[in-house]
Amino acid sequence: MSEWKRIIELTEIPQLGSRVVRSAKGDIAIFRNSENKVFALRDQCPHKGGPLSQGIVHGETVTCPLHGWNISLVDGTATAPDEGHTTCFEVKIDSGVVFLKI
Ligand code: FES
Repeated sequence: MSEWKRIIELTEIPQLGSRVVRSAKGDIAIFRNSENKVFALRDQCPHKGGPLSQGIVHGETVTCPLHGWNISLVDGTATAPDEGHTTCFEVKIDSGVVFLKI
């Protein structure tokens, strides 16, 4: 059963950057965008498995560092014309602390 797990202080995630959390479901990248929204995706691009945590965050999208696919931080879907999807996890901020549902 999934439950909320305390992960990190929001300020410990660089703006337009990410932190990687190791879990039984594989590495999960927690992103913070310029508006201090947080998102959580499996740290694996749907194209060829590139590390999305090392990509470039812009708006609510991350650009994969390997071949430049754009992946939605909101739902993990690749932007057309590319096709694919990476697992997306629920994340929330409570009193400046980031919680992940896993
Ligand atoms: S592995 Fe991400 S774009 Fe190719």
